[in-house]
Amino acid sequence: MSNIKFINQEHIPIEMHKARIVQKINLISLEERIKANNKASNNSHLLKNEDVFLDMLTDSGVNAMSDKQLAAMMEADDSYAGSSSYFKLKEKINEMFDMPYFLPIHQGRACEHLLSRVYVKEGMIVPMNYHFTTTKAHIELAKGKVIELLTEEGLKEESDCKFKGNIDINKLNELILKTENNKIAFLRIEAATNLIGGQPVSLNNMKEVSKVCRENNVKIILDASLISDNLYLIKTREKGYENKSINEIIKEISKCFDIIYFSGRKLGSSRGGGICFREEQDFLLVRNLVPVYEGFSTYGGMSVREIECMRVGIEEILDEDVISQGPIFIEEMTRLLVQNGVPMVTPSGGLGVHIDCTKFLPNIPKEQYPAASVACALYIISGIRGTERGTLSEDRDDNGEEHFAPMELLRLALPRRVFTLSQIKYAVDRITWLYNNRELIGGLKFTEEPETLRFFFRKIRAYR
Ligand code: F0G
Repeated sequence: MSNIKFINQEHIPIEMHKARIVQKINLISLEERIKANNKASNNSHLLKNEDVFLDMLTDSGVNAMSDKQLAAMMEADDSYAGSSSYFKLKEKINEMFDMPYFLPIHQGRACEHLLSRVYVKEGMIVPMNYHFTTTKAHIELAKGKVIELLTEEGLKEESDCKFKGNIDINKLNELILKTENNKIAFLRIEAATNLIGGQPVSLNNMKEVSKVCRENNVKIILDASLISDNLYLIKTREKGYENKSINEIIKEISKCFDIIYFSGRKLGSSRGGGICFREEQDFLLVRNLVPVYEGFSTYGGMSVREIECMRVGIEEILDEDVISQGPIFIEEMTRLLVQNGVPMVTPSGGLGVHIDCTKFLPNIPKEQYPAASVACALYIISGIRGTERGTLSEDRDDNGEEHFAPMELLRLALPRRVFTLSQIKYAVDRITWLYNNRELIGGLKFTEEPETLRFFFRKIRAYR
């Protein structure tokens, strides 16, 4: 990456791109924000984007696209079956991931749906480093159970561990030893583990886990939705990979897996998603379901324009200047917040910054959803919307009991190449103000609570 130094040694992340198309944003008044928040029943997913100043809800489908991606969209070859856009994408994916089979699928959770339908049967378990909301929902809908195998460091908000997304190999060996082999549907590793703060997995850990899986005949699957952040963090944090190219690192990662799936809304900054397979047998099993749920297997629910855009976006992740932009801005924002005393998940990872709301609001119990409370308060005082990643993002268990998340996080996503440093400084300023005035924030309780993925459509109000 370009190594730019300032005279006074100040460390400032530099944008390795320039803005050529921009979108006007509005900062509506405090009174209007209070009204908008009430109308959205204290749920940041239900706010209208026009009422939001800095949209840090997610990085999904809102990353900046490159000039080359937009140009490729113009060349898309529209056809129901056999589009040349599909073959160009397939060739690129085969080359990058070194896997011979590929299916385009309309988004990440649709990949999870098909994989769960094919491999998860009643009573099976799916070990993984940590779940993502939609992954767990699909596995449970297929009557399987998620087993999480993170190392102890993974669930500590503050830590020196550079790879908090790693799987604990001892826990994995123990689990395999006590489980009948045909009860493990597959093992899943999630790159830059979303719900624990975008924390990366080391390549050495992937290699070790893969070895155990292969020795025990367990299929191993990578959720590569956040692989671009994870690649950059391997290259800059893991010993032995500093001089390897991103392309070489991707190839080494791919070797560890039988199947790789991804959300193209995150990976490659486009839309859509896809699944890569090493074995023809797996490819055929999943392909059988594609025309039922997605569309024909050469478009998988995506428009051909999205397919072209994805091809270019995936190729662009080989460029370190491109993939560094997320992690270095996240690192800077985290550093500034820590400097101001705000409790944060450290070290920073991918996707966005993560505020530790257990420490932000120590007097609000988990039953009153402290991270969602901070999310509402931050929107009201700044126009910034983030998303709760804690107990509210979990669904109740079969007995209706709360399933308390180990961490109560407010995630402020930094979609790639979207925000400038001054906007980040505005966010830091407002978050710091809120932290210094945190006694103003109360807890929340449900008025309407959906059964599955309740955080999307929930309605909630002030506890008192
Ligand atoms: N896997 C991971 C790790 C994800 O972060 C997501 C989506 C998905 C799968 C599902 O992909 O949205 O294309 O269906 N994460 C978004 C987020 C929604 O806001 O974190 P999708």
